[in-house]
Amino acid sequence: MNLAQAQARLAEKGQSAVLRFWDQLDDPQRQALLAQVEDLDWASLPEMMSLLPARAAEPAGAFEPALVTQVAGSERLAAGMLGEAALRAGEVGVILVAGGQGTRLGFDGPKGTYPLDPVTHATLFEIHARKILLLQRSMGAGIPLYVMTSPENDAATRRFFDAQRYFGLDSADVLFFTQGMLPALTPEGQLVLESPGHLFLGPDGHGGLLAALDRHGLLDDMRRRELKTLFYFQVDNPMVEIADPVFVGMHLRNVADVSVKVCAKRDPDEGLGVVVRRNGRWGMVEYTELTEAQKNARRPDGSLVFQYGSVAIHLFTLEFLRQEARIGLPLHRAYKKVPCCDARGRTVKPAQPNAYKFERFIFDVLPDAREALVLEFDRADEFAPVKNAEGQDSPATARAAMQAKAERLKAVSLC
Ligand code: UTP
Repeated sequence: MNLAQAQARLAEKGQSAVLRFWDQLDDPQRQALLAQVEDLDWASLPEMMSLLPARAAEPAGAFEPALVTQVAGSERLAAGMLGEAALRAGEVGVILVAGGQGTRLGFDGPKGTYPLDPVTHATLFEIHARKILLLQRSMGAGIPLYVMTSPENDAATRRFFDAQRYFGLDSADVLFFTQGMLPALTPEGQLVLESPGHLFLGPDGHGGLLAALDRHGLLDDMRRRELKTLFYFQVDNPMVEIADPVFVGMHLRNVADVSVKVCAKRDPDEGLGVVVRRNGRWGMVEYTELTEAQKNARRPDGSLVFQYGSVAIHLFTLEFLRQEARIGLPLHRAYKKVPCCDARGRTVKPAQPNAYKFERFIFDVLPDAREALVLEFDRADEFAPVKNAEGQDSPATARAAMQAKAERLKAVSLC
């Protein structure tokens, strides 16, 4: 794209201010800015504009908590056998989303390279990869791993896997793909320049997964490999039971398009979304969307009405993922502190939120599901996310949870 073409595109979109520092830029900076203008996700701009404050978001409407399934005893055994059969048949693949920026943790590098294990200091990536390796060995079948990165951490992630020899996994079965990036908008609807020659861009959310899988031909790769079920998890939970056979078996038995693992919230304010039924459809209501009254509402037995939170561990049928990739997911906005240029072109880090960032969320596939399974699990066994540098949901709490689990398992094996 040349300057005249960029000017025409930007004028058409009401974004001519993007070139306001053009005269100050050197040639490489100019080329880089033209490339950004060319590659920008212009198709998403009208939806982003429609989310700006003047046209406020719709209220969440009426909803009720979805029925949560518990599984135990012989039903658990039967589900486990069904799940194992699918794994042995090589019908299950694994998707790891690792494109986030990990701002709250504040670690220098992809979050997956954080050394977490309290004993071995294994990184999050290693912890996950070793589980997949073990599962492959015990099932005697390949389990491909699809790793979503962002343009910001893709090279570092690939280098890390390469340097660690894929932790023993077959490199042909580890497929990296980058998610998309979206610009930020001021409340007036102007694209944000981070520096005179550079538009601010951020990853398009874990829901960017669908478009990214499609763009990289990986939905077809999954079909070629004859996968039927995809296990989805996030990089920051070291306790996740990857593709655990009981979950897979329950998903298959329920002929679900999507399955969601939930656990009892530790308190009404824990930041987990809740699975709901709304107008006869499935859905996820984020914790920020629950009113104080809804968060604290209790049943006659004292339990919370919205007791169970989703921990972003899902199963999808491949056909459902393909369908959703065709339909596309909606955008959500968040008012954030976005680095921007002052009038003289100096980058400033604002003290207060100044612009909207936009993301897609994977759980927005739920309303399209004909059948969904919401399965309870014990959080002490499977959930200890690393979100913050300190305090709750930090490396310290995750390590403590891992150690406690190891001790419980040791006690059981000594019995
Ligand atoms: P979080 O919502 O916790 O975001 O991501 P984050 O970027 O990792 O951390 P903060 O909010 O900046 O502190 C949950 C999971 O979704 C992935 C993350 O890598 C993590 O596994 N994710 C998030 C993506 O893959 N892409 C995104 O654009 C956002």
